[in-house]
Amino acid sequence: MSKKKFFFIVFEGAEGTGKSFQINKLYNNLKKKKFKVFKTREPGGSKSAEQIRKIIFDKRGEKFHKLTDFYLMLAARNEHFINTILPAKKKKIILISDRYVDSTYAYQVKGNKIDNKINLINNRYITSNLKPDLTIVLKSNYNSASSRLKKRKNKNKFDRLSKGLYLKIQNSFIKLYKSNQSRYSLFDSSKNNANLEKKIYNLVYKKITK
Ligand code: TMP
Repeated sequence: MSKKKFFFIVFEGAEGTGKSFQINKLYNNLKKKKFKVFKTREPGGSKSAEQIRKIIFDKRGEKFHKLTDFYLMLAARNEHFINTILPAKKKKIILISDRYVDSTYAYQVKGNKIDNKINLINNRYITSNLKPDLTIVLKSNYNSASSRLKKRKNKNKFDRLSKGLYLKIQNSFIKLYKSNQSRYSLFDSSKNNANLEKKIYNLVYKKITK
């Protein structure tokens, strides 16, 4: 089966919720069914955006001011949007992104107290207000998330979240889900099992073949 339709899926969640794992499963399951699908991530997802990602997570440098972090995230998004998201839209493929604008809301606005008006204006400007067709929010209990993070080789500065901040960020995503359940789905990924993989695939399949 080969369907030609741009369908933008975003996975959101705090670190250690198993997004990458579920993204890979979904990507492989869609490929098996011959859908044209591409996976990407933020910050990053294009050559130039990945360069900005390196600057953001560079362990050698001094810690950036939170406003600088915010603008670096946006700069990366602009490059990603122009070089990856828009071409995917043009090619009418399924695009799965590990994070997008809601991460800026959760981490910079809720976590770092960046003014949400500034956030909304900038994000709308960069993305021409292009919203995902489906946002999958993964939530996990803190213990499962931190044991996943302990296994990671390449830890970035955001991987050392305190429990309080972890829950604050997770709750920001849950709040977004609650405010718009037609575009968002919420799954508990504390146990990242085959059952969850199946549930996500079934949901996506239903939406893309509608
Ligand atoms: P990840 O690739 O493991 O998801 O890590 C990306 C980190 O970047 C994660 O801690 C969340 C953070 N981030 C922001 O703070 N703001 C953003 O807008 C995005 C896209 C990511």
